[in-house]
Amino acid sequence: MTRYTADSRDRVRDAVDMLAVVSQHTELRRAGASEYVGRCPFHDERTPSFGVNPIEKVYHCFGCQASGDVFTFVMETEGLDFVGALQLLADRFGVELQTEQEDPRAAGRRERRERLHNLLGRAAAYYARYLWEAQEARPAREYLDSRGLGEATLRDFRVGYAPSAWDRMLSASRRAGFSDEDLLAVGLAQRSKTSLGRIYDRFRERIMFPSTDARGNVLGFGARAMRQNQLPKYLNTAEGEIYQKRSVLFGIDRARAAAARAGRAILVEGYTDVLALHQAGLHEAVGIMGTSLTEEQISELQRVAKVLVLCLDADAAGQEAMLRAAQLARKRRLELRVVPLPDGSDPAELIERAGIDALRERVAASVPFVAFHVARILEQGDTSTAEGRDRAFRQLLPALRNLERGAFGDELLRRVAGRLELSEARLASLIEGAARQNGANGPADGQPAGYGPAHAPLDQAARAERTFLALCVALPEAGARMLFEVDPDRLITSEVMRRAARHIAGRTHSPLADLPPDDEVLARAVADLVARAGRAGRLSEDQLTHARLVLERARLERAIRRARAEGAVGIGELAREREAVLERIRQVVARLERAV
Ligand code: CTP
Ligand code: MN
Repeated sequence: MTRYTADSRDRVRDAVDMLAVVSQHTELRRAGASEYVGRCPFHDERTPSFGVNPIEKVYHCFGCQASGDVFTFVMETEGLDFVGALQLLADRFGVELQTEQEDPRAAGRRERRERLHNLLGRAAAYYARYLWEAQEARPAREYLDSRGLGEATLRDFRVGYAPSAWDRMLSASRRAGFSDEDLLAVGLAQRSKTSLGRIYDRFRERIMFPSTDARGNVLGFGARAMRQNQLPKYLNTAEGEIYQKRSVLFGIDRARAAAARAGRAILVEGYTDVLALHQAGLHEAVGIMGTSLTEEQISELQRVAKVLVLCLDADAAGQEAMLRAAQLARKRRLELRVVPLPDGSDPAELIERAGIDALRERVAASVPFVAFHVARILEQGDTSTAEGRDRAFRQLLPALRNLERGAFGDELLRRVAGRLELSEARLASLIEGAARQNGANGPADGQPAGYGPAHAPLDQAARAERTFLALCVALPEAGARMLFEVDPDRLITSEVMRRAARHIAGRTHSPLADLPPDDEVLARAVADLVARAGRAGRLSEDQLTHARLVLERARLERAIRRARAEGAVGIGELAREREAVLERIRQVVARLERAV
């Protein structure tokens, strides 16, 4: 990270024309000796409440309370970090920035990074020129044209073409003074496994889409095949010190300012989607280069906009990964929305087929991610049977547990309750009952209250009993048999778990069915068991047997203690029984250990 001197920062502040900077975003008029006003660029308003002091170079909005100096203004309106804003202003107002004295190792790392960025930038320029000038790139030009992508857009994104020869990039880069190690480090070349380990160009006969960071430094490429049978369809830069697929956002440098202005970023899956949206005037589009949004991408987007609109085949996107992304977004107070797309089509195709207005309409009709996710589960599940409703409840839990209380949350709960044939109050207690303990997945500090607070801890015996019952639900066949065999009054000490055991017996396939309407404690306990069963993963019957034997052992130990207190009558028999149980525990543990 480059560090500029405090003096550089002051010189930039002195040099900027605050009115010129702000006027790019809103019209200002004079309103006093050193005060200008206009409509606030940070919120929608009709009457101006945004004031600028061009001498102090600060602003304040009396409507939305936005305020700051020229640097924060550029950070907010351009979606840049501080250093980015400083560089932009230095550039625009002709100030030379000076870096702090760095320690030699940091300086070495920075220089290496700059050299590699430079190499990648040159490579992008080389491929771009090749696309427009080379004879052999003609089919690529025609293909891009047939996809409706115009030259201006393609040039703006530095789209290029990689020659078919094996060494063009190699020799051009060597001539420019780069080492083979540099070329390997950025993934432009790779080493052959045979022929004496010689190195050669990684990208050949492909359309080249350069990915950049927010400041426009090229990080790597996505390279689309041009020939039939040329695999893979997209060949990406391999993971390395500069390119990490998880954090790449294709087009972020072109989308940044527009997204900051619009207050939202539109996330699409593919390179062509990004180009098509930009060409159609939706400049806040970026590509997430895969089907699910990563934590790294969310961190980057957080700087740029508060609303993230997913415009991709959300069915294909791993629903679990998306749910994780949604939870991360929520923690960072970002709003995640989903644009429903016609099945199996991507936004670029939709524009080609139905025009940009069709896409705009869909974007305008986006829905909050949870609503989309919940609707999907209800659509796909069979809620006509008690078992199906139980399954749907389990699948819905992670989303419902983190739902923010409020009008939207209430409405969603109402819909879910209707589909699951539960009263709203009952659904709310089930969610509460199933809330994960220790807050492991519960609301984080400072988070808005959800529908699922954690509940009071159980003692050790009750925890073992709960484990047994959860396993009975997770393995409903074997669980039904076991519950038939045991006597809850003798085996189970906790009052709630005893009632839960009686309720579940005979209903291990659909434990949430027929809960008595007035027993919220029982409802919560059963919901908790269902949630635990849902998280249990792959299980064997031995685990259930083990859980039951643990309860048997505890029962015998209780009986032995009681017998001792009452004069040791029949204690020998109890001790033998306990020995037998311990032996069975040893056997089942040995089987479980062999199984892993
Ligand atoms: N992708 C990838 N590697 C692949 C296939 C796909 O990285 N082997 C990524 C690319 O970012 C691609 C996106 O997934 O843009 C979507 O893939 P796909 O729908 O197959 O491609 P499109 O973007 O639709 O490309 P085109 O329109 O050129 O077919
Ligand atoms: Mn496509």
